[in-house]
Amino acid sequence: MASRRSTRDYAKARGSRPAQAAHRQRRALSHVGGAVDVEASNEQDRRALTWALRVSSDEVASRAHVHGFHSYPARVHPVTAQRCIVRWARPGASVLDPFCGSGTILVEARLLGRKTSGVDLNPLAVELSWCKTRGSSASERKRLVELANRVADSAEERRLAKAGPTRRYGAADREMFEPHVLLELDGLASGLSRVEDLDAARMLRLVLSATLTKVSRRAADSSERVVEKRLASGFAIRLFRSKSRELAERLGAFASSLPPGAPKSNVQTGDARELGHIRAGSIDLIVSSPPYPGVYDYWAHHAARSRWLGLADRALKTGEIGSRRQLGQLEPVAAVRRWQMDLGAFLRQARRVLAPGGGALLVMADTALHNVPVRADELLGELGPKHGLELCGRASQARPDFHRPSERVFARQVRREHLLWLRKR
Ligand SMILES: C[S@@+](CC[C@H](N)C(=O)[O-])C[C@H]1O[C@@H](n2cnc3c(N)ncnc32)[C@H](O)[C@@H]1O
Repeated sequence: MASRRSTRDYAKARGSRPAQAAHRQRRALSHVGGAVDVEASNEQDRRALTWALRVSSDEVASRAHVHGFHSYPARVHPVTAQRCIVRWARPGASVLDPFCGSGTILVEARLLGRKTSGVDLNPLAVELSWCKTRGSSASERKRLVELANRVADSAEERRLAKAGPTRRYGAADREMFEPHVLLELDGLASGLSRVEDLDAARMLRLVLSATLTKVSRRAADSSERVVEKRLASGFAIRLFRSKSRELAERLGAFASSLPPGAPKSNVQTGDARELGHIRAGSIDLIVSSPPYPGVYDYWAHHAARSRWLGLADRALKTGEIGSRRQLGQLEPVAAVRRWQMDLGAFLRQARRVLAPGGGALLVMADTALHNVPVRADELLGELGPKHGLELCGRASQARPDFHRPSERVFARQVRREHLLWLRKR
């Protein structure tokens, strides 16, 4: 199979002006439906690719058990992940997601009893993937809720006593939160720092993270738009309490669905272009959704969460692939080349870690860079073979665009999400 368009087409866009910053919230790519356009080298793959991409548009699956715990931009649809694994990874196979984000693919692979490993340069992604895939016992979950209540009680006492903050906060936090909310968050953070059970403390920090945008003046993670929210006194503490209970329930639902003896997941912070810690030929299947060119800015989206969780995000700041802050400064041709170089480095690593006969299933949607549509299937379809991965199939389905600047770009040529199947040659 050959890709239909080359990078040279983006040269047309040379000189076009950088895109404006996003002012509207992007929604998860779970708005699915419509016909699937598919090409594959054999009938079996054709059917499987169609089946994997044609998933129900309801939100139930994407919010089921641990999937619904914490927001994350550009999550993959869990049913697509599940179907890719069922079809292309035999029981006992090892599955890697080198851009694991919030862990959707790892969660599904673990539920199917496969050996799973994940990598992401975003430390928040690694924390989320760890929490969602780890599994838990009933007593651990009970303890988690008790510790959360203890933290919330101590924050509530400070609130009622009108105690001041336990430390000074910088401009970023003073701008992001109303003063009374910041004080409540300070009380929670100070309570969390006293939790001695390290795993419980890690999970409860993620609960705090899950509440941050909701109690902030921000519309969403991926938006800098300020919105007025009149939050009652004590709301942030109550939300922390209820979100902790919710996490325990979600962890319980996940644990009860895990097959007996499902191997533990191994998740690490790292760069997908340097998978040196993974042995050559040790992975049977890669299922992943690589970062899109020039759409998100994970480092900026998650800067506040990283700050509150004490996560080291410097490597993400410098090494994030496709970030809007980096590609937005380049001309369209240079931006696409840069992204291709980074994805190429990842694909070379993918080829190295894949076992003979192994392959990679990559999920990506079309995007707009400087008001020029970037067709993900064409770019990836062109890149794979250059790096020793044969393009064996592709399925594509229309996806509505909710992002105002790119809405115009895709007004005539519909925006699509793609699933590409690349095999090690
Ligand atoms: C499209 S998201 C993956 C979302 C994930 N499939 C989910 O369902 O949550 C792409 C991910 O690539 C990560 N990323 C960006 N640059 C990276 C790099 N150089 N190495 C590893 N991960 C990177 C981002 O942090 C982000 O989590």
